[in-house]
Amino acid sequence: MRLRHCHNFHDFRELARQRLPGPVFDYIDGAADDEATYRRNTESFERCDLVPNVLRGVDAVDLSVTIMGQRLALPVYCSPTALQRLFHHEGERAVAAAAAKFGTMFGVSSLGTVSLEEVRKAYATPQVYQFYFHKDRGLNRAMLQRAKEANVDVMMLTVDSITGGNRERDLRTGFSIPFRLTMAGMLEFARKPMWGINYVTHERFSMPQLDAHVDFGGDALSIGRYFTDMLDPSMTWDDVAQMVRDWDGQFCLKGIMSVDDTKRAAAIGCTGIVLSNHGGRQLDGSRAAFDQLAEVVDAVGDRLDVMMDGGVQRGTHVLKALSLGAKAVGLGRYYLFPLAAAGQPGVERALGLMKTELERDMKLMGCRTIAELSRDNLRFR
Ligand SMILES: Cc1cc2nc3c(=O)[nH]c(=O)nc-3n(C[C@H](O)[C@H](O)[C@H](O)COP(=O)(O)O)c2cc1C
Repeated sequence: MRLRHCHNFHDFRELARQRLPGPVFDYIDGAADDEATYRRNTESFERCDLVPNVLRGVDAVDLSVTIMGQRLALPVYCSPTALQRLFHHEGERAVAAAAAKFGTMFGVSSLGTVSLEEVRKAYATPQVYQFYFHKDRGLNRAMLQRAKEANVDVMMLTVDSITGGNRERDLRTGFSIPFRLTMAGMLEFARKPMWGINYVTHERFSMPQLDAHVDFGGDALSIGRYFTDMLDPSMTWDDVAQMVRDWDGQFCLKGIMSVDDTKRAAAIGCTGIVLSNHGGRQLDGSRAAFDQLAEVVDAVGDRLDVMMDGGVQRGTHVLKALSLGAKAVGLGRYYLFPLAAAGQPGVERALGLMKTELERDMKLMGCRTIAELSRDNLRFR
């Protein structure tokens, strides 16, 4: 199988599966506990039907949206994800370059493998910095200041990961940073020598957002323990309100679900929220963002920008979310499998296919602009 044979999410996933050592593939593909939320994220779109209008004169379609002050040429963006250079040696560089080519936003994770400054300098497209809140308040202040000096456009605080999720696939393979592979996990790496060659012949693995503060070397700390030992489960709304004031710019909370929390986010001055269950990787049994979207848009949609992510595999999924009132939709595995499969050309192909699907679907829906999508175009089964 080759990149040119990839026509949808499932094709990219299959190519990534062929090219990655099993434990790395399972780290991307896996989710928490029984992975029920992971499955439901995509299934939730299938309970909703599109009701198109015809004969509307739709020769040209404008897919642009404005979220948190950023104009995006597409209503989708690349959500921040950890460890990208482990999936493909180009890592965040490939994702940033592809996002810039399509005029959309991308995120750099706190657990990113390229520095936020490097990609900020290389690409003018809107950039998110994804923040985890640490027990060490001095570390939080230093990281906020660093992102400010780098001129990051949007600060995105992830609040659904106050402790690590139970990823049982990783327990079985021994996937962790640093690697603590089981014998079966090691055999999987031996079966994909090209990945290993790329890994050792390119720049040494590092996490430049955290390297100065956290020692991930040797037995020092695993990523799992980073979540439990260093992140602050006692964090409250007052802490976030202080962070919003300190940042004094576009500030987004990622990983909230309840209407009550979204009202609080609006009250403390957040300019955006992402309804998200972290791709089903944290609290299994949590509600799918798409199922919760209408309630939240009705409650706070006039006070901040509501976005969502989770399970998005098709242009029609995006159109359904936008019709319910989301301002934009985040992609996770949708671009990670193409990254793992083929680096920058892979991510570009995936975003290109998404753009083509969105244009085609908008025409078939009888809509020229995103603003023309509405709940009148939807029926729930
Ligand atoms: C491998 C992987 C790593 C991730 N790392 C992070 C991260 O570091 N920070 C974060 O806020 N979200 C992270 N996420 C969650 C994504 O930003 C996004 O919320 C999720 O992937 C959306 O679901 P989807 O993959 O079904 O599209 C990660 C997701 C995956 C699959």
